[in-house]
This record gives sequence, C-alpha cells and structure tokens, in this order.
Amino acid sequence: MAIQPETKHPFLLYAAAGFFCLYLLYSQITLYLSRRRIIRQNGCQPLVHRINKDPFFGLDVIAENRKLGSEKRFLPCAEQRFYRLGVWTYGSRIFGESFVVTAEPENIKTVLSTKFKDFTLGVREHYFKSLLGHGIFNSDGEKWANSRHLLRPNFAKDQLADLEAFERHMKLMLKAIPKDGSTVDLQELFFRLTIDSATEFLFGHSTNSLKYMDVDDENNEDTIFAKAFNEAQHEIVQNVRLGGLSFFRSQKRAKHVNRICHEYVDKFVDDAIRSRERRDLEKDAAMKQTKYVFSHELAKQTTDKKALRDELINILLAGRDTTASLLSNMFFEISKKPYIWAKLREEVAQLEGRLPTYEELRNLKYLKWCLNESLRLHPVVPGNSRLAIRDTVLPLGGGPTGKSPLFIPKGTVVGYSPYTMHRRTDFYGPDATAFKPERWEHLRPGWEFLPFNGGPRICLGQQYALTEASYVTCRLVQEFKGCESRSEGGWVEQLTLTVASDKGAKVSLTPA
Ligand code: HEM
Repeated sequence: MAIQPETKHPFLLYAAAGFFCLYLLYSQITLYLSRRRIIRQNGCQPLVHRINKDPFFGLDVIAENRKLGSEKRFLPCAEQRFYRLGVWTYGSRIFGESFVVTAEPENIKTVLSTKFKDFTLGVREHYFKSLLGHGIFNSDGEKWANSRHLLRPNFAKDQLADLEAFERHMKLMLKAIPKDGSTVDLQELFFRLTIDSATEFLFGHSTNSLKYMDVDDENNEDTIFAKAFNEAQHEIVQNVRLGGLSFFRSQKRAKHVNRICHEYVDKFVDDAIRSRERRDLEKDAAMKQTKYVFSHELAKQTTDKKALRDELINILLAGRDTTASLLSNMFFEISKKPYIWAKLREEVAQLEGRLPTYEELRNLKYLKWCLNESLRLHPVVPGNSRLAIRDTVLPLGGGPTGKSPLFIPKGTVVGYSPYTMHRRTDFYGPDATAFKPERWEHLRPGWEFLPFNGGPRICLGQQYALTEASYVTCRLVQEFKGCESRSEGGWVEQLTLTVASDKGAKVSLTPA
C-alpha cells in the first residue's frame, strides 16, 4: 500500500500560513507608519543624490573603487564625488546594502556622539576578530563599555608616554640616518620606531627592530613577530577590500601569522599575571617603584588571559601605524618647504640643545601647528563608518540641496570622510589643500577637525601619540639643521588600515 502524505489537518497548515502572512503584513504596516511618523516629526526630506548607476549591486561603484584603489587615487576621487553631486551627503547601494556617505560635521557628530546608541561598528568585528578577538577596537555595546572601563584608567595618567624610552629608541633611529646628506626614507624608520616603543610601553619588552635592522635573523622572535604583525594587518586589508567575496579567499596565511602574533603576546600576558601574583604574594613595597608597564597595570584589574591578549593586541594595532603614518605624512610635507624647518629650528632653539621635558614639548607651538596641519590634510584614518541599528535621523543630507534632515533606516551604513571634511574650503579657506601650519594661529575648529574621532569612542591614545610624534620631531630638528625632500611631485596615498605616504618620506638631512 502506497504511503500517503500527512493530509489530516490541511486546515491547520493553511491557518498557520495565513497567520504568518497577516503577521508580516501587520509588521510592514506598523513599520511603515512608525517610519512615516519619524519622517514627519523631523521634517525629513528624501535622499536625492546617489552615485551608483547599477541601483542594486552597485557593480559600477565597486569597479570604480577597485580601480581608484589600485591607482592610489581613491581619496581625492572619493572627495570629487561630493563636488560632482554638489552636496555633502550622498547615497549608494552595494550588494543590496544601503550606504549614506557624509562629510558634514553635524552628521558626524550625530553618529558618533548625540545618537551614539543608534549605531555600531558594523562589519568591522567580522573582519578583525581573527587577529583582534574582542578587544576595545573591535567590539560594541556592553563588551566595548567593559573594555573602555578597563583601559581608560591606564591612559588617564598625565605623563603616560615615557620620554626616556623614546630617547633610547630615538638614539637607534639617529644612528640609522646617514650623516653625509644621502637619501634616507624616514617612513621606514618611523614604522620601526613606533613598533619598538609601543611594544616596550605595552609589554615592557621592545621588538628592537631599529637595533637589529641590518641583521636579518630569521630566528629572532621579535623580528618574526614584527613581520607577522605587519602581514596580519595586510591580510585584514585584503579581506576588507574583497568584502563578501573574501569568503572564497584562502585564510591559511592569515591563520598562520595570527597564531604567531597571539603566541608572542601570550608570553607577555603570562609575564604580567606572574608579576601580579608575585606582587600579591610579597606585598613588596619596592615593586610599586618599578617601571610602568601597561600589561602589568591591566593584569591588576583582570587575570582573564584571553581578555588581556585581546586588549593588548587591539592597542598595538590602534596605536602603531597611526603614529608612524602621522610622522611620515608630516615629514613628506615639511621636507618640501625649507622655511618650515627653519621655523621649527628657531622654536626648538629655546631648549639650548637639552632633551625636551613634557612641559617644554607642550609649549612648542609651531611644532603643534605642523602636527595639526598634517592631521588635517592627511588624516591617518581618512574614512570610517558606522551601522544604524535602529531607525534614526541625521540633521543634514535630505532634499535636493542636502540641507534638510535625512531619515536613516535601520541597517544603513553611514560612511564619513574626515579626508573630505578637512579639505572643505568653507571651513579652511580657498587654500585648504595647501600644507600651511600658520593657519592654526587662528583656527579653533569643532567637529570639522576630526583626526582622533569624537564622542564616547574618541581615541584613547591621542596624548600618547602627540607626545611621541612631538618628541621624535623635536629631536630630529635638534640634530639636523636641514631637511630636504628627495621625492618628486606631491603626496600620494598608501591606503591600508591607515593612510601613509606612498612615496615614503625620502629626505636628505644635514647634521647641525
Ligand atoms: C596619530 C595617531 C593616532 C590617530 C590619528 C588615532 C586615531 C584614532 C581614531 C580615528 C579612532 C577611532 C576609531 C573608530 O572608532 O572607528 C581611534 C581609536 C582608538 N585609538 Fe587611536 N589614534 C592614534 C594613536 C593611538 C595610540 C598611540 C593609541 C594607543 C597607545 C591609540 C589607541 C586607540 C584606542 C584604544 C582606540 C579605540 C577607542 C574606542 O573604541 O573606545 N591610538 N584612534
């Protein structure tokens, strides 16, 4: 006898399907009504300007972005899109996902501060978690709040950066600079210096990559780590660029280099926990006098090894390339304008050859203008984004002029561009694209200057970074009476997780 399918209660099946359809209809209607109310209450106007011709997949935009990236013209061309459309907020759609891109300070303030809780980091966690786990840079909500709470006290110290340690690394860097005026790429040295100083600050042990720069010791674990850390970031960048297609990319290499990074950091985590145990055991007052080591301070607050590793590696990533990129971009620019070096020499002369103290560094006004100007013209985090996790509203971007409030449905990615915003002539004048430190004499910008982000997630290492960059610059200015560019043409982007100079910072330095 043939088996009959279960047809005893078809009525129940139809009823369930009917209820489900009704439920869908009901939710769509309530969603529509709630959105209409938000739009009316806030006077929102529709988003008029969009960049993609392919309205669903945005294949034209994807292709254009890839081309501009490979030609190292992504940032200026992305800036041009705003000028082409004549507005500071536009939309696009890529693989069915909606994007709103803005260079309006008021919108950015809304996303990062006023309506902070309406947004998360979006896809960042997915791409970064194999290296970063769930540390501060890579988490949202309660997890992020816990990380921030854990780390913040360690950044609150007034004189966090250790000038003596900077000087030790600086001496090694100075040794690597030719004194006969031949060309040197400072960018390479800055990247070595910042990983050496950051690892010393975080782990109490430096990678010493400047010390061993001529020795290619393949068995030196510090060298292996420094290389693996660079490669791990490269792997992330490749995956981010491919987006959803990264699913088809082999992750074997990424896994290998991530493992090297984790094992290296784990040694210092164990060390920090042992140091805490010794301290607890001995209650040794003398230990309180020992040198400040970030990981040891963290281990006083938690002994969760995974949490410690994640936070340390997050801070290394957030703090290393950023400071090196700032220095490289700035030296690219100032080496093109000898008058700037002369002014810096004049300012630094007040130290009469002594090493600067914190107080003295802070008072080097012209040096601060140079750093600000570099962060303005070449913000090392030139673009960023957040994902709307509920329906919300931006103050600007709606209507043909983009000056009306704009409704942002849940699931929209809001991209923002400090690069474009920092070059707006209505904020910085007709010479906005020129490197001119003097403009800082009268500038007091608000949200239109955003190199370190703003709101609850503002960069924790801002003071550390500015102290390190000021120290390095001040020492170079003291040691060399001339700094001349050895690169042709203008600055070109080298866009990875941050933006450095594609031509490096090739200069000739004349000893004082
Ligand atoms: C010129 C140097 C630097 C620049 C331009 C910079 C910029 C930024 C920016 C734009 C963000 C926000 C990222 C986001 O939320 O999407 C950020 C976050 C962060 N930065 Fe920096 N940074 C610099 C140096 C440093 C240094 C030296 C450290 C640590 C020693 C550091 C630690 C952090 C941390 C921990 C966060 C995450 C904060 C959070 O999400 O709550 N940064 N930084």
